[in-house]
Amino acid sequence: MSYSLHESPIPVMKPLLPTADLITPYLEQIDENRWYSNFGPLVTQLESRLEKHFGVEEGTVALVSSATSGIVMAMRTLSVPRGSYCALPAWTFAATPAAVYNADMVPFFVDVDEDTWAVDPESLLQIREKISAVVPVAPFGTPLDMDHWESFQARTGLPIVVDAASCFDSFARVDSFRISEIPVILSLHATKTFGCGEGGLIICKNKDFIKRIKDLSNFGFTDEEMYARGENAKMSEYTAAVGLAELDNWENKRAHYQELSDLYSKYLGNIGLQNWRSGDWISSTSIVRLPFDRVEDVVNILKSKGIETRRWWRRGCHHFQAYSEFPRLPLITTEVLVNSALGLPNWIGMTEEHVKRVISGLCEAIQATDPSRAVSISPKSEAKA
Ligand SMILES: Cc1ncc(COP(=O)(O)O)c(C=O)c1O
Repeated sequence: MSYSLHESPIPVMKPLLPTADLITPYLEQIDENRWYSNFGPLVTQLESRLEKHFGVEEGTVALVSSATSGIVMAMRTLSVPRGSYCALPAWTFAATPAAVYNADMVPFFVDVDEDTWAVDPESLLQIREKISAVVPVAPFGTPLDMDHWESFQARTGLPIVVDAASCFDSFARVDSFRISEIPVILSLHATKTFGCGEGGLIICKNKDFIKRIKDLSNFGFTDEEMYARGENAKMSEYTAAVGLAELDNWENKRAHYQELSDLYSKYLGNIGLQNWRSGDWISSTSIVRLPFDRVEDVVNILKSKGIETRRWWRRGCHHFQAYSEFPRLPLITTEVLVNSALGLPNWIGMTEEHVKRVISGLCEAIQATDPSRAVSISPKSEAKA
């Protein structure tokens, strides 16, 4: 270990959910109500407060047990042939292909755009005749432009479900990432900016669709009949209690993430690297693109300095044994990102000193890995901050 004994290791993530004192008033309501799951008053209250938070109409938000289940259920409503191909990026978390597969479709991996790290709808036209649906992914909280996806849908007639797991903040703040007929799924997992332990949220303008999702999350029961195979993917009242307390404290939590994001932008800028996050939105991950493709070496050097980093999406989903058999287009940009994108420590409670330590460790790791980069990425420039 080359870090000083006085410097404690810096983890890559340290989730923070509301403390017991903030949750207790909601738990007392549950005691009083004696209603524990199945669309109870706290889940209803959280949906309604989140609709206000996002500035959307009543009946356009459904809470479910996870984003993964949300994607599965949204896809089951698409009425596409079982076993047909669904295009999705290989540059995503393993939940996306798992959801596609569990919705009885076959993942068809496609590449992402170098600038946005998301699927460019135009790139799908070459496989239009092969695929029956698309699941674009909004990477690491980055907003998608819904105009592009709506016009792609109008042109091709393909059903679309957006995996926007990390986009709680960008969906609320970025105009182009707006509610539409295309369902958008957010994750409320503990590792996300807005969390309640485990949970997912579906937003769609089509209120019948939202009602259908709720039915599917309750085994497929409707008021009279069971038309579709559902599952148990409801959110419990206890989870909603955490979500309500999280929403009470949201502005405060958000401000801490914003401060951290600003610090990273400043210090990364000083060494000539860019914070992947840009714009007026926050994310629970901080990603940097290294100037070469030896990310694993940098991870190991930083580890020896007590700084934990993460290749959040590992080598891309197409490399997992579970998904390696599925068809794909050439994944040129994906392979570049797999070997150069790195998740830096990002959690509430990190101080400016922590950020400086991460950046100076990063400089040293980059120089040690590729000395030719030492000129443009000098730790001395850190003093400018
Ligand atoms: C891109 C992406 N999709 C889906 C998920 C799954 O979300 P959940 O844990 O709520 O099922 C994640 C979780 O990190 C994710 O990053």
